[in-house]
Amino acid sequence: MFIDKIAGVAFAVCALTAFSVQAQEVNIYNSRHYNTDRVIYETFTKSTGIKVNIIEGNHDELIQRMKSEGASSPADLFITVDAGRLAAAAKEGLLAPVSSPQLDSVKVPANLRDPNGAWWGLSSRARVVVYARDRVKPEQIKDYEDLAKPDWKHRVLTRSGTHPYSLALTASMIEALGEEKAEEWVKGLVANLARPPQGGDTDQIKAVAVGEGDVAIANTYYVGKMITSTKQEDREVASKVGVIFPNQGNRGTHVNLSGAGVVKTSKNQENARKLLEYLLSPEAQRQFADGNMEYPVNPAVQPHPELVKLGSFKAAEVNAASFAAHTPQALRIMDRAGWK
Ligand SMILES: [Fe+2]
Repeated sequence: MFIDKIAGVAFAVCALTAFSVQAQEVNIYNSRHYNTDRVIYETFTKSTGIKVNIIEGNHDELIQRMKSEGASSPADLFITVDAGRLAAAAKEGLLAPVSSPQLDSVKVPANLRDPNGAWWGLSSRARVVVYARDRVKPEQIKDYEDLAKPDWKHRVLTRSGTHPYSLALTASMIEALGEEKAEEWVKGLVANLARPPQGGDTDQIKAVAVGEGDVAIANTYYVGKMITSTKQEDREVASKVGVIFPNQGNRGTHVNLSGAGVVKTSKNQENARKLLEYLLSPEAQRQFADGNMEYPVNPAVQPHPELVKLGSFKAAEVNAASFAAHTPQALRIMDRAGWK
């Protein structure tokens, strides 16, 4: 009995020590790689005392890692920049539904979060058409569909088809048009490419500016970052291009999001929820808006003025998880069409 008691006390002390160490930290499995985010985490640590540990990786690696680590995974919060990957993590059962009065009070639009709270959007970005001001009139392109028309032969620039941004766009086309028409669109787009896909979105914008192509597909924040860049050459590139928000006369422009979900096996669920709440707070949302030129998901926070200048637009209202469900078909049809 006495020994039992000692053992019990010893166990309690151990458990308490372990708890108090863990209670002061939160581990992020992060595939959102923007230096400006560091400021957000540092501010969170300063105000809460909770240390933020960041484990970097790409989306799929991190999902794979959580799956193989199982219950022993140190992951507390999964952060990524593609709705498809958030939906995939939720589908794998890796994320825990989370809600709180504070999260609810933010009023994140329904299409930018999981209906059950398994993931929450942090910021959104529109996938737009960037055009050469001196060679293209903005009214020449109204919809994504137009990019596949023969008038744009050898004039279209895009990054790789295997990149999540391209996959999500094609998945959204499948959602809107059905698989058959979406495949025709992909084929037409590939036939119109000015060069084989290479580089990131910034490279496509630069290629428009130097005349390698006339229109490019890119996320809004890349344009915003060039407009506000400290480098003169970036600002010059930005001055040569304009932005078209496609599909304004119908379903709206495709938006993707960066978002976060609390990991089901997290040992620091409360800290993870607190961090999530902080990421949706006006203060952190201001950082997403100004640091990386994204659209805040918190409706109380305005985008950066330079982004506002690009114009207001109607975003497609479809829930990210619903177009993300078409990702496997998107990959198949893009592969068949040769969007490498
Ligand atoms: Fe990006």
